Amino acid sequence: MRVLLLGSGGREHVLAWKIAQSPLLTKLFVAPGNTGISDLAECVPLSLSNLDGLVEFALKESIDLTVVGPEAPLVEGVWDRFHAAGLKVFGPSRDAAELEGSKAFSKDMMHKYSIPTAHYEVFSNVNEAKHYAVEAEMPVVIKADGLAAGKGVVICKSSQEAVETLGRMMSEGAFGDAGKKVIIEEMLEGEELSVLALTDGDSVIPLASSQDHKRVYDYDRGPNTGGMGAYSPCPQISREKLQEIVDLSVKPMIRGMAAEGKPYRGLLYAGIMLTEKGPYVLEYNCRFGDPEAQAVIPRLKSDLIPVMLEIAEGKLKTKTLEWHDKASVAVVLASGGYPGAFEKGRLITGLEALKGAADVHVFHAGTELNAQGKVVTAGGRVLAVVGLGDTLREAQDKAYQAVSKIQFEGMHYRRDIGRRALEVLK
Ligand SMILES: Nc1ncnc2c1ncn2[C@@H]1O[C@H](COP(=O)(O)OP(=O)(O)OP(=O)(O)O)[C@@H](O)[C@H]1O
Ligand SMILES: [Mg+2]
Repeated sequence: MRVLLLGSGGREHVLAWKIAQSPLLTKLFVAPGNTGISDLAECVPLSLSNLDGLVEFALKESIDLTVVGPEAPLVEGVWDRFHAAGLKVFGPSRDAAELEGSKAFSKDMMHKYSIPTAHYEVFSNVNEAKHYAVEAEMPVVIKADGLAAGKGVVICKSSQEAVETLGRMMSEGAFGDAGKKVIIEEMLEGEELSVLALTDGDSVIPLASSQDHKRVYDYDRGPNTGGMGAYSPCPQISREKLQEIVDLSVKPMIRGMAAEGKPYRGLLYAGIMLTEKGPYVLEYNCRFGDPEAQAVIPRLKSDLIPVMLEIAEGKLKTKTLEWHDKASVAVVLASGGYPGAFEKGRLITGLEALKGAADVHVFHAGTELNAQGKVVTAGGRVLAVVGLGDTLREAQDKAYQAVSKIQFEGMHYRRDIGRRALEVLK
């Protein structure tokens, strides 16, 4: 089986690592890939916005299966282009990826199919939005409609903050076209949970539970990021409870998308908040979470290729997945300044010492080789360090021991990944 994986982040590194272990694999290409991935696969310098180039490459290399990591090419219609060329793709079509590509579409779908979600209004006119915000009870949550790399959501505590945020998004173009339309919604409170499920548009296989840590600082302080760490499984969620949440959040959406003539195939990610009134859906994503994937996939025992291929062919035959009986903790190491402006090109030390360490994985996100062939920082989120253990505590210890070996100037990370779950276990 010849596989092409699209993407260049930590999520794609863990996917490449998993796919590379499959006995079915004969060749793995990753476009464009990254420094860590180049140890496992052949990286191809093709941009993900060059859909024609990607199709041409896949045809030339007789690719049997293409796996799409990030949301942008899916929302752009990579599935549709590959499909039209007779190529098999794991991931949703452009119409189905709209569940992530447009938060207004996603909220309207939740409303239509009675999926519990925060009350909301959609605005395309900045004056109407501001007028609504001034009258609304605070706090409110303002969300850019389109893709904003995890930074398009602002929780506003005062009308003034809301009006300013709306001005930045809708008039000043802080998120380009993605912020021309916004959602203003009620703020919910509770514990968050990421529910990931594989689906062929009909059957659904949930993955193990995980929890992301969106805020940049310990104790969930500071601005939102793309995700500063994750752990899996969530001990506060029993298997029965997870199934209940899947039945409430994933299944009705899969049925709804099929009913709308936009069958959803691939991985559906439901961001859940466990409120006092029960689980509410915050959002859907059309791909694996980053860093949830780095926490969840190392725990997966089953081969991913057969199930991805079945979904790409439109019919899931696999019924369940097998998991290692271990917990995991993934800690993201970020560049100084992230999620704001940050510098690149900082030398990273300590990576060699961790190669081959038991129950430790280091997945690359924002790294590159400098002119001397040394690994340096090249992005906001630089690495995800994963520890596995018989207990969550052991996994956490493993991860932070490994983190202590790695250094680069300006490096920062959260020291409390998994803390909430450990408190629950107590
Ligand atoms: N209604 C809400 N009430 C409280 N907090 C919220 C609400 N909506 C979103 N949030 C917070 O903002 C975060 C980001 O929101 P959301 O998941 O909708 O945005 P996103 O930019 O698509 O994120 P991602 O990068 O995970 O796809 C959530 O994880 C949650 O912490
Ligand atoms: Mg999202």
